[in-house]
Amino acid sequence: MRLNIRDFESSARAALDPVHYDYVAGGARDEVTVRANEAAFRQLSLLPRVLRGREKRELDVSLFGSRASMPVLLSPTAFHRLAHPEGELATARAAAAAGAIMVVSMASTVAVEDVAAAARRAAPDRPTALWFQLYLQPDLDFTEALVRRATEAGCTALVVTVDSPVLGLSERNKRNGFTDLPEGMRCENLRELRGGEPGSVRQIVMSPELSWEHVDWLRRLTSLPILLKGVLHPEDARLAVRHGVDGLLLSNHGGRQLDTVPATIDLLPEMVDAVGGRVPILLDGGIRRGTDIVMALALGAAAVGIGRPVVWGLATDGERGVRSVLELLRQELDHTLALCGAGSLSELTPDLIRQVPAGRR
Ligand code: FNR
Repeated sequence: MRLNIRDFESSARAALDPVHYDYVAGGARDEVTVRANEAAFRQLSLLPRVLRGREKRELDVSLFGSRASMPVLLSPTAFHRLAHPEGELATARAAAAAGAIMVVSMASTVAVEDVAAAARRAAPDRPTALWFQLYLQPDLDFTEALVRRATEAGCTALVVTVDSPVLGLSERNKRNGFTDLPEGMRCENLRELRGGEPGSVRQIVMSPELSWEHVDWLRRLTSLPILLKGVLHPEDARLAVRHGVDGLLLSNHGGRQLDTVPATIDLLPEMVDAVGGRVPILLDGGIRRGTDIVMALALGAAAVGIGRPVVWGLATDGERGVRSVLELLRQELDHTLALCGAGSLSELTPDLIRQVPAGRR
């Protein structure tokens, strides 16, 4: 019986090639941050309100023009065809059926146009809630072409990942010799079209040359909302607002880039302070329970993202597995709200959170 996200991780582990399991589960270097993301939630307590007369809970949210049935979005994760032959098509159908926003990774193994078509077919009555994750490429013409492609495919926001001036180093991948995708799998968004014919596939370039000027350039290029993913320093959060970004996805890349950076939930209060309500802050990293979602929202996040849990669902049972993961989190969120005496997400406020005394738990 799969009762929680942890159960999905176990079943995914059994289903996946161990090298690919390590690719998903692992992180940078000693994986200090991977562990910290989840552990930090254990250092918080929820302090519920009672007798509030709330019969039903409202879970839906509106984020950057996308309606979502709950404040849980699918953070961008690469290479879904490693987890299931249908890859991102299955993920997109599950997200659309659940009314959840999916952030398509630039490194998806299905082209963004096909991901969008699958989402549309799964929920024809609703506008598709698809965003596109972008690594700014030093070749600006190529970046521009990608942005145009994602926009034409129907993506309605850009999530620009800025924590990767170089690729984080996973020692699990190194030991396992995992350096390339298996035969037949490619990053389909990086395939160049020559005269309408599929051409060669580019590599994603992680570039330490990138600067705020590139964000300014992107701001001038597109009218889509721009979220920066991976801003961790409060001073950079202030700079982001000054450079006209529409939101932040507070993320340490699931502990896959710089090891030892703080758990995202620990950083959230000072980031909320730094931004001062000027743009929404979303958070990902270590969200595994409805209580985690409630804690993040109570501390000021507008929504949360999940990375690995989506891949665990996909590896376990394709589209159905991802749907189950999303439904589990929805039920846990609803149940937690009821136990906290909250009728809507706006009733989640910082007074519902206590720090666990040092040395306990
Ligand atoms: C990621 N993540 C990621 N982020 C991004 O901006 N672009 C990407 O292509 C990927 N790819 C990717 C692959 C895999 C296998 C994982 C696990 C993660 C990071 C992702 O968006 C997110 O920040 C974290 O996964 C959130 O942490 P949890 O939910 O996995 O703990």
